[in-house]
Amino acid sequence: MLEIAFAAAALPTSGALALLIGEGEAPAGVWQAAEQATGGAIGRALASAEFTGKKGQSATILAPGAGLARVVAVGLGKAAERTRLLVEEAGGTAASLLAREPAAALAADLLAPELAAAAAHGAVLRSYRFDRYRTQEKADEKPRLARLSVLAADPGAARASHAPMQALAEGAFFTRDLVSEPANVLNPAEFAERCRSLSDLGLSVEVLGPAEMRELGFGALLGVAQGSANEPRMVVLQWQGARAAEKPLAFIGKGVTFDTGGISIKPAGGMEDMKWDMAGAGTVVGLMRALAARKAPVNAVGLVGLVENMPSGTAQRPGDVVKTASGQTVEVINTDAEGRLVLADVLWYCQSRFDPRFMIDLATLTGAIIVSLGHEQAGLFSNDDALAEKLLKAGKETGERVWRMPLGEGYDKQLKSDIADMKNVTGRPGSAITAAQFVQRFVNEKPWAHLDIAGMAWAAKDAALVPKGATSFGVRLLDRLVAENYEG
Ligand code: BES
Ligand code: MN
Ligand code: ZN
Repeated sequence: MLEIAFAAAALPTSGALALLIGEGEAPAGVWQAAEQATGGAIGRALASAEFTGKKGQSATILAPGAGLARVVAVGLGKAAERTRLLVEEAGGTAASLLAREPAAALAADLLAPELAAAAAHGAVLRSYRFDRYRTQEKADEKPRLARLSVLAADPGAARASHAPMQALAEGAFFTRDLVSEPANVLNPAEFAERCRSLSDLGLSVEVLGPAEMRELGFGALLGVAQGSANEPRMVVLQWQGARAAEKPLAFIGKGVTFDTGGISIKPAGGMEDMKWDMAGAGTVVGLMRALAARKAPVNAVGLVGLVENMPSGTAQRPGDVVKTASGQTVEVINTDAEGRLVLADVLWYCQSRFDPRFMIDLATLTGAIIVSLGHEQAGLFSNDDALAEKLLKAGKETGERVWRMPLGEGYDKQLKSDIADMKNVTGRPGSAITAAQFVQRFVNEKPWAHLDIAGMAWAAKDAALVPKGATSFGVRLLDRLVAENYEG
């Protein structure tokens, strides 16, 4: 992870320097010192690059003088429109422009301490790499930036403000690592093993196997798991940061470590993407890690249902009927609609055991949500307007955006089965909604939100805070939801 060191504002005499520049701002602080030391070379270069500090703008100036190898300028936009997210994104962009530098400094001395910390946080988030399986990458092809010195007007205040952000970044990276792992390595048992290590942070970690789940009547989850040689697991994480009597917030994740579709097998093209069908579970675990690491003053539980969906001689068949932990029966028309079967048992278990304040589930549940919302926003489904509003707000603030989708009886009716209480698929029209409707049947009068993150868990291209690949979508969103609404 990119190491951040906060330091007093002084012009570096070598290496690279990043400047975050607001629209229409005049040089001051470290920026002004750099201008003077280079005889105005930076200002001239920015003018010829038509850099004016608009948000989204950036420019690189090579060897401007005064010993500096490179100066990068990133636009912060208008002062009146400045948000924490915007500064984080500028920090992320700066880190990407500095990636080839062995040593770099970022001038954040014109920003308030919380925003200097936000710039550092953005730089950290953008610098994520998953390198475990690269054995032959040449040194001169690799990003080198390992340490970033953040120059601040009040380094102590910036450092203090950055501490919880660092806990959050570590949580997000834990998620990104899980989501990036191939499915031959990260099967349900291995996923559960990696959760065990979180007990060091003060989380309680329980791992349940097939015998315990049979005992609990998890017929839907076990039906999905039965085709795989890799046994299923359920992990229950608990964080107690508030009074024991306080009801917990509950987060539930779909953890399909690989989704072939089962007997209703998927086509070969793109099937490798289904290694990240456990992203909902990965997000829940990363979030719980972040809450624990920053000692959030709340009680929270995180539950993940971990299975592999495979076709085999023991796999469940289309037409099979399974009994869920709730007692409701399901006709499995399509074995590829497996995520909702996993969520059904875990959600039911969660509310019966913990009686939480709310339940939020995350799942790469449907291709249909990608048709609806693309790779810009996750689908939000909720039975509670107040909870939905809080999520929409946290989404705007963190840039992990969600868009509210409808629920309703007309959709629910389509789940009717001729033989069981419900079937697990409907026709294609509105099928992200009918999937949510299925999940809702396992929620009992509790504030609940379902986030369909199928379009958001993995990115094909770089963004300011996330290099392409596993995004950890939802970790920052839900951390903000908790911090803003449930910590005091
Ligand atoms: N894991 C998939 C959904 C998915 C698709 C996630 C593409 C990410 C990218 C899910 O289990 C699935 O297969 N859903 C089916 C449901 C259908 C059988 C009703 C789908 O969306 O096609
Ligand atoms: Mn599927
Ligand atoms: Zn799936």
